[in-house]
Amino acid sequence: MIVATFSVEMIPQVMRLMELGSPYIRVRTESDYWLYASLFSSTCPVALIDGKVAGAIIAFRSQDNPDDVYIQDVMTDPAHRKQGIARTLVAHLHDRAREWGCDRIYLTSEPDNLAARAAWESLGFRNVTGDYAIDGVSVIKDFKGPGKDRAAYQLHIR
Ligand SMILES: CC(C)(COP(=O)(O)OP(=O)(O)OC[C@H]1O[C@@H](n2cnc3c(N)ncnc32)[C@H](O)[C@@H]1OP(=O)(O)O)[C@@H](O)C(=O)NCCC(=O)NCCS
Repeated sequence: MIVATFSVEMIPQVMRLMELGSPYIRVRTESDYWLYASLFSSTCPVALIDGKVAGAIIAFRSQDNPDDVYIQDVMTDPAHRKQGIARTLVAHLHDRAREWGCDRIYLTSEPDNLAARAAWESLGFRNVTGDYAIDGVSVIKDFKGPGKDRAAYQLHIR
């Protein structure tokens, strides 16, 4: 596996990858991916296997709180899951965040996404205490707007 920085040339492959992520990943528009590849590439590592995109993280350093790096999407091709791709991509993002002196990487997840929960906890993320719990997962009410309750996970940079 090679980890590369997201580039405009990779947009069609990254969009095809994200299409495989339903119901937990929503594919954004081509213009959105242009933005990520052109303005945020340093926080968007892409995993390549035999030259093909097998996984990707779309993340951003917050302008409102530059101590924070927020992961919008993490996706591994179903054919390559449980092979350490998400772990490797998160490690790259972690290195970048540490170089910048950031304090925290965080993300939100649908409360019922058990694979994601297992992955985040295994990668050292902690489930942020929220307003109620579903199957042991703490959930923050209306985190992403009315009715959009989310489980939040955070990893402090060491
Ligand atoms: C969640 C997801 C990104 C994990 O990617 P991955 O490349 O398979 O993860 P890794 O192989 O790097 O695994 C990292 C850790 O998570 C664990 N893990 C990953 N998937 C798991 C699963 N389905 N069940 C239990 N543990 C799991 C691995 O065992 C590993 O821990 P370990 O090293 O201690 O064994 C992947 O399942 C995916 O793309 N899901 C669909 C999209 C999605 O839900 N994205 C997240 C939205 S919040």
